[in-house]
Amino acid sequence: MEYKTILNNINKKYDNRPIAFFDSGVGGLTVFEKVKKILPDENFLYFGDTKNMPYGEKTESQLITFADRIFKFFEEKNAKAVVMACNTTSAITYEKLKNNYNFKIFPIIQSVCETLARMSDVKKLGVIATPATVNSHAYSREIAKYNQDIQIFELAAPKWVRIVEEHRINQPQSIEQIEEILDIMQDFNPDKIVLACTHYPYLLNVLKKFIARDKFIDPSIYFAQNIKNYLTEHNMLNNHFEYEKFFVSSNPENFKTASELFYKLQELPALVNLEN
Ligand code: DGL
Repeated sequence: MEYKTILNNINKKYDNRPIAFFDSGVGGLTVFEKVKKILPDENFLYFGDTKNMPYGEKTESQLITFADRIFKFFEEKNAKAVVMACNTTSAITYEKLKNNYNFKIFPIIQSVCETLARMSDVKKLGVIATPATVNSHAYSREIAKYNQDIQIFELAAPKWVRIVEEHRINQPQSIEQIEEILDIMQDFNPDKIVLACTHYPYLLNVLKKFIARDKFIDPSIYFAQNIKNYLTEHNMLNNHFEYEKFFVSSNPENFKTASELFYKLQELPALVNLEN
């Protein structure tokens, strides 16, 4: 090893404060497990706001209240960064809240749209998301910043989040509700379809029965890489894993069961009330 590299390693400071994640429920774990895989030395916090799920049916002012409470909770826990592992709050609350806290915030939509916009094989892009995300047109707006030639069709799938949270993925009625949405999307004939709600990758085994797996994009893959790049460039990495802690605002047992497809929790998440 060169003398300079050795010296750099000796002087390197590590940041053992946790990276915190939040979502309305288990959806954000689809992001969390990818980040954990590529940043195994980090400490983590995760908050699932299960009491207020589904976020996709809430108003802007409700979503701002929920997100602000969670950010403050993470501030108390001394997080170095907060990952908005939720498309809905990224679309509706990020711009309003982004300057209010003392940590770095990573919003999923704003972080991945440049990559989506630059995919050379995509002229028609389908986006399936919650009603609030679709109504905000956040994906169309963000992608247009980088590429105005992509045709985008945003479609809401209001029932899909509950199918995941209530672990009804393989029930015939759920499969029908999934197919209904995919039929509408197929009429648009997209080159790729973005799963623009972090809950939707839980449904991939059903989705791929109707449309080829490689048409679906789970944007959390790009998101995780962006997070790693930023923390590396800003010298914010940790070098030694000590803990990961999960919190929910209701029903810890249900969270543990629903999450199993993506991440097996060692113990029940802690129940916390952020309302007062
Ligand atoms: N998983 C979240 C998202 O990505 C929220 C889903 C919901 O609670 O409606 O939008």
